[in-house]
Amino acid sequence: MQRALGVCYYPEHWPEQQWADDARRMAEAGLTYVRIAEFAWARMEPKPGEYRWDWLDRAIETLAGAGLKVILGTPTSTPPRWMLDKWPDMLPVGRDGHVRKFGSRRHYCYSHQGFREECAVITRKMAERYGRDGRVHGWQLDNEYGNHDTTVSYSAAAREGFCQWLADKYRTIDALNEAWGNVFWSMEYDSFEQVDLPNRTVAEANPSHWLDFLRYSSDQVAAFNRVQSAILRAHSDAPLIHNFMSKSTDFDHYKVAADLDIASWDSYPLGYLEKHSALGEAWIERYAQQGDPDFQAFHHDLYRAVGRGRWWIMEQQPGPVNWAVYNPAPLPGMPRLWAWEAFAHGAEAVCFFRWRQAPFAQEQMHAGLLRPDSADAPAIAEVRKVAAEMAALPEAETARARVALVFDYQSVWAWQIQPQGKGFEYFNLVFDFYRALRRLGLSIDIIAPDCPDLSQYDLVAMPGLMQVPDALQQALRAFGGTVIAGPRTGSKTGDFRIPAELPPEMPGRICTVAHVESLRPGVRRPLSGGGAMHHWFEALETQAAVVDRLASGEPAIVAENKVIYLAGWPDDAALQRVLETACAGEGIPTLQLSGGLRVRDSRTHRFVFNYGPEPALFEGQTIEVADVIWQDLPDTPTKEAN
Ligand code: GAL
Repeated sequence: MQRALGVCYYPEHWPEQQWADDARRMAEAGLTYVRIAEFAWARMEPKPGEYRWDWLDRAIETLAGAGLKVILGTPTSTPPRWMLDKWPDMLPVGRDGHVRKFGSRRHYCYSHQGFREECAVITRKMAERYGRDGRVHGWQLDNEYGNHDTTVSYSAAAREGFCQWLADKYRTIDALNEAWGNVFWSMEYDSFEQVDLPNRTVAEANPSHWLDFLRYSSDQVAAFNRVQSAILRAHSDAPLIHNFMSKSTDFDHYKVAADLDIASWDSYPLGYLEKHSALGEAWIERYAQQGDPDFQAFHHDLYRAVGRGRWWIMEQQPGPVNWAVYNPAPLPGMPRLWAWEAFAHGAEAVCFFRWRQAPFAQEQMHAGLLRPDSADAPAIAEVRKVAAEMAALPEAETARARVALVFDYQSVWAWQIQPQGKGFEYFNLVFDFYRALRRLGLSIDIIAPDCPDLSQYDLVAMPGLMQVPDALQQALRAFGGTVIAGPRTGSKTGDFRIPAELPPEMPGRICTVAHVESLRPGVRRPLSGGGAMHHWFEALETQAAVVDRLASGEPAIVAENKVIYLAGWPDDAALQRVLETACAGEGIPTLQLSGGLRVRDSRTHRFVFNYGPEPALFEGQTIEVADVIWQDLPDTPTKEAN
């Protein structure tokens, strides 16, 4: 598979006379793909049942005429205003019970069957017209499922769908009452129709009720996506793609992507640093113009798993965005670095958002590759440079990682529902492990919780995995490498109960969690080997070897038969030490990367990135600020071929 660059373009935003020149300049800059049409429903169907394809035909013709490959978006994230006259109850409802209004985008509830049918119709119309069009090289379904907090809707349609979903799952209301433990607080129901959504209760709703509702909501995203994927499959052989987001956890992306061919994600490193970093002001200031050094890589590895190996960047930040609390410009060099980082993690394509900055509407302050006056914006020179460099490294490929890290969406929901302490966020726990592994210079595979085969790995970490699914249980039994579990691994059943035999419920159980504590921010439980536990600590009963204790004597890390259990949330120092020791035990070589240096190995090359605001030294070589270099890896097939 050849690596490629691309761009997002909105022909409907510009006079038609401009299209040909735009297309020519895109091709000249070295771009291959152009994604269009994902917000243009009102131009495709200006009135119910009245379709206008002439402009889209001409746009495709112009773009393809310049040699570009079109990715066509279905426009279902922006239903036209007339749709609401037809379906006034299709709007999403917030947790506070208020209906969310028209006037931006994503104004639909996934559970609304009438709107789903409207989406099927517009998708079918597009598929019939363009499905066998050789100029269309891929489809993007909808746009950013779940963005603007839209996965979970508390509408009448959602309630109706949820009741049916529960009836299908439990068959009898007694089974539901039993599974949820509704004897507690006299919450028992007499029929499925009585079950309401878990928002706006007086005190907290039953966690089992919440978990099922979040599962239901996640399933609606998958079902909504499947309506479109089934239609497109019947009419087209081009790959089906969705553009997922960062730290987007309210639906199970593995399940949605099961009906797609390629997972893509939208990477805005500077906006995300402002929005998501848990590491405080000094960290954000240091990386304000580069992005967090591990955040993009984490999502590259996650979406490689979600896409079962095939993944893209569908939207790459080119300059300042408009939506974060502060919106600085990337340091010169960063758009190039981000593109190469994606390629190093196996991306087949990196598409920039967007071609030209729009002088109107919500995103007029969002940079593009061109300024609003059509002059070059800074990032386009970097695009040209990457395009030229790609000639020497054309093949998209990725390495076999020896280390796997489990990421599970249900665990996100479980610990959101029952954090037990304010700081317990599953994403951050897994991301701490990821960051520590990266500081050791490791290439990592993120894997789904039901991964049936671990044989290619030497080390598997599954912190905070609420429940170990059967497939993973079996894979773990067959696994010969080191397993790192805890805290909170295997601590709930699927019904959200404490297991009958106390946690951790997992193969090779080497301890019992007698009780747990959550810790205030700033509280540290120092470890005798260095570092500390924070956020969380578990009192263990164990016969296993105690690898590390709290300074006060309680077991904190225990190990037996290559299973290591962590009785708390280790800070950076402790995590680094535990992981380094585990790698040494498996003969996995590690590095000590300081500052903003990060490494990723492909099959043939080692890529070295400097995210830091100062030059850094890697094996005697200076890596400049915002620079990436690559070296041939010894004993690679390329070398052998030479
Ligand atoms: C993405 C979205 C784009 C655009 C972009 C701005 O979330 O898919 O349509 O809004 O953000 O950064």
